[in-house]
Amino acid sequence: MSQPILQLESVTVETTGDSRAPLLEDVSLELGVGDVIGVVGEAGAGKTVLVRTVLRLLPENLRLARGRVRLKGTDLNTLGEAELRRLRGTELAPILPDAKSQLNPLLRVGDMMTAVLRTREKVGGKEARERAAALLQTVGITDPARRLEAYPHELSGGMAQRVCIALALMHSPSVIIADEPTAGLDVTVQRQVLDLMAGLVRARDAAQLIVTRDLGIVAHYCGRVAVMQGGRIVEMAPTIQLFDSPQHPHTRELLKAVRRKGVVHRSQPVAERA
Ligand SMILES: Nc1ncnc2c1ncn2[C@@H]1O[C@H](COP(=O)(O)OP(=O)(O)OP(=O)(O)O)[C@@H](O)[C@H]1O
Ligand SMILES: [Mg+2]
Repeated sequence: MSQPILQLESVTVETTGDSRAPLLEDVSLELGVGDVIGVVGEAGAGKTVLVRTVLRLLPENLRLARGRVRLKGTDLNTLGEAELRRLRGTELAPILPDAKSQLNPLLRVGDMMTAVLRTREKVGGKEARERAAALLQTVGITDPARRLEAYPHELSGGMAQRVCIALALMHSPSVIIADEPTAGLDVTVQRQVLDLMAGLVRARDAAQLIVTRDLGIVAHYCGRVAVMQGGRIVEMAPTIQLFDSPQHPHTRELLKAVRRKGVVHRSQPVAERA
């Protein structure tokens, strides 16, 4: 088997200073080429802390106390801040709820987007702008020509998030790390965005970690699911298996809650794993 793209080995995250229970405890996870893993769990389960640990974007009062995160074999702990920042714009594609903080406040949207194309693919300015505008349109941004001229502070939160998604798609990352990537988007745009990310994972031999509360998304897009509770992964299984025979009481609770709403049915087709 080829080397995993992303590995978490017994990751434990604690608050600095006091002796409270860890926010993440002994979390291990592996994403190989083509893997799309869904992370689900109740509010406060530790999903966002997990995402921020992978991106090395933990708040100052939290620290990785034990364990390791490896990207294509490289221990992220051995890298400096400049290298991490570079990775977050290339190999790692963060899609976070506070999208604006991920965007360079000094650059216009169009300049961020076209810089990638012009340096990597050596395309001319006009073509780069046309492609950037087209991509903005696919992530549901109307009037893309105008938005290319905007600075991050001029965007709404939802729009900044879509710009991040467009940038992520443009960078062809190895792994997309998405925390509630489609929260706040309307249903049609949700589908478009998720389809685009799924397409990218397939086309570029990438992988994706999707944190979501929406088990419908998990059923359609994720090959495997990790269920979190209290900072731990309490169950991890292929999606079909998890939906058909959930083992952990917390998984059963989550499934019961959505089935009551009629969102997910047994044996709903699952996106095929690569
Ligand atoms: N900087 C922090 N300092 C102290 N505790 C924190 C910090 N950030 C998160 N926590 C705590 O860690 C736990 C996990 O939080 P996290 O944000 O990861 O939950 P989540 O699973 O993403 O929830 P949600 O579904 O609401 O987004 C919570 O109890 C939260 O209060
Ligand atoms: Mg969260």
